[in-house]
Amino acid sequence: MRSHRQGPSLLHLDSSASGGDSVTRQLTARYADIWRCLHGSAGYRYRDLAAEPVPLVSPAFVSLGVRVERHGMVPLHKVAELAADPAERHEWALTLPLIAEMRAASTVLIGVPMYNFSVPAALKAWIDRVTFPGAFVDEGTGDRLLRETTVVVVTARGGCYAPGTPREGFDFQTPYLSAYFTDLGVAPENLHFVHAEMTRAGDVPALARFTPLAADSLSSARSAVTELARLPAAGRAAARTPEKTTARTR
Ligand SMILES: Cc1cc2nc3c(=O)[nH]c(=O)nc-3n(C[C@H](O)[C@H](O)[C@H](O)COP(=O)(O)O)c2cc1C
Repeated sequence: MRSHRQGPSLLHLDSSASGGDSVTRQLTARYADIWRCLHGSAGYRYRDLAAEPVPLVSPAFVSLGVRVERHGMVPLHKVAELAADPAERHEWALTLPLIAEMRAASTVLIGVPMYNFSVPAALKAWIDRVTFPGAFVDEGTGDRLLRETTVVVVTARGGCYAPGTPREGFDFQTPYLSAYFTDLGVAPENLHFVHAEMTRAGDVPALARFTPLAADSLSSARSAVTELARLPAAGRAAARTPEKTTARTR
C-alpha cells in the first residue's frame, strides 16, 4: 500500500483531556482554521485521541508485528494474510486506518499537553499502534515515506522548561517526540515545536507572579502557529529557524 497524496493534506490530532479551555486545542484549532482557509477541507482529517482513545496494543498486536518483522519487508496490503487468528486480524483492522492516515498526510499537527513531564497516555497509545513494523518504509525501495512530511507539535505546560530555567531537564516531551519522529523518518528540518508555557499561572497561587510570562508565551505560540500554518508546504523547511518556529516564554 502506497500513500496517494493528492495535494496538501492535514492530519490533526489532539490529545488533551481538557475541553474548550485546553491551550493545545485552541492553538491547534487556530492552525487548522488557517490551513483550511488556504487549502480547503477536502484534505483535512481530525482525530481526538482523548475523546476516542486508540486501544492499547495487545499481545495479538505484538505477535503479528513480530511475525511481520521475521518476514522482512511486508507490503501493508499483505499484512492481513499473516494474521494467525481473529485477535490478530482485529488488531490489524484497528491499526491499518491509523497508518493510512499518517501516510496520506503531508502535514501532521499534534496538540500535546505536558502530563507528568511527558506526553499524555492517549497520544502514546496512538504512537505505539501506528508504529507498526515497516509502516513508514516503501516496501519496494526501502525509502523512508515520511521524509517530506511536515510535523507540527504544539505543546502546553503548566510550568516553564525553557533553556536555562531550573526545570529545563524535566522536559521529556520535546526530546522524546523529536527522537521519535526523526527516527520514524521525518526530516529534522520538517519537524516544528511550538510551546505555550506557564499555562497554570492563572490557577496556581504559587505561579501567579508568572502570569505576564504566561501571556507572553501564549501570544508567541499563537504567532508561531499562525506563521507555520501560512507557510506553503515547500517553503517550510527553508524558512525554519528555532526562533521562528519555537515560541517559549524566554
Ligand atoms: C494529568 C496532568 C499532568 C500534568 N503534568 C504536568 C507536568 O508534569 N508539568 C507541567 O508543567 N504541567 C503539567 N500539567 C499541566 C498541563 O501541562 C497544563 O495544564 C497544560 O496547559 C495542559 O494542556 P491543555 O491546556 O491543552 O490541556 C499537568 C496537567 C495534568 C492534567
